[in-house]
Amino acid sequence: MLLSLRNVRKSYTTAEGRLEILKGIDLDLDGGESVALTGESGSGKSTLLHLVAGLDHADAGEIVSSGRSLATLDDRRRAEYRRTAVGLVFQHFNLIPSLDVGANISFHAKLAGRHDPAWERELVELLGVETLLARYPEQLSGGQQQRVAIGRTLAAKPPLVLADEPTGNLDEATGDIVLNIMLSLTKSTGAALLLVTHSTRLAQMLDRSVHLRGGRIA
Ligand SMILES: Nc1ncnc2c1ncn2[C@@H]1O[C@H](COP(=O)(O)OP(=O)(O)OP(=O)(O)O)[C@@H](O)[C@H]1O
Ligand SMILES: [Mg+2]
Repeated sequence: MLLSLRNVRKSYTTAEGRLEILKGIDLDLDGGESVALTGESGSGKSTLLHLVAGLDHADAGEIVSSGRSLATLDDRRRAEYRRTAVGLVFQHFNLIPSLDVGANISFHAKLAGRHDPAWERELVELLGVETLLARYPEQLSGGQQQRVAIGRTLAAKPPLVLADEPTGNLDEATGDIVLNIMLSLTKSTGAALLLVTHSTRLAQMLDRSVHLRGGRIA
């Protein structure tokens, strides 16, 4: 099992008191599997992705990802986990504005110590961004920016890709193209994909769907 969550809980303390968001999540992903995570707004989808990404800590339960039990990692190992074991794609593309497309694509791979120019050239071709390499993010359309963001994530060949509504900012046709590229690229690298979407239509393009409701996976 590449990713396994057992009885994962998370609450936030706010002015209104304690909000229990995740009340015991169990979820397993095999290597290479693509899973859609659906659920109403506020149900905790992004919260769950942040926990798996190692960006936040669960209150209780266990998350094991690529053989690491996240709660047991010290800061250095947690940083290493984030750099090498997970790749993130968000709704807002989060490209680095001061770097051109080519440098954006190799940025994470270099940080992860996995810069592979041949793989990056292949990615650039598969993503159809060959002619855009010298441009800066602000000079790209939304769909182009998202393709670059996917390239940047996959250049480092993470075993697990976490995507939070990656096509939420795109029109339907562009969103479909981007999702198809992401599915075929994760399949070709053997990466597992956990993708948040509001669209049941998009969810059906993945291997499997899980639904978050009332703090649990239904
Ligand atoms: N840092 C925080 N402090 C307090 N409450 C938070 C925090 N982050 C999220 N929440 C609350 O936790 C709940 C779950 O938020 P989350 O962002 O995970 O939902 P979501 O399912 O991703 O929603 P959406 O589909 O709108 O993106 C919401 O009620 C939100 O207001
Ligand atoms: Mg969200």
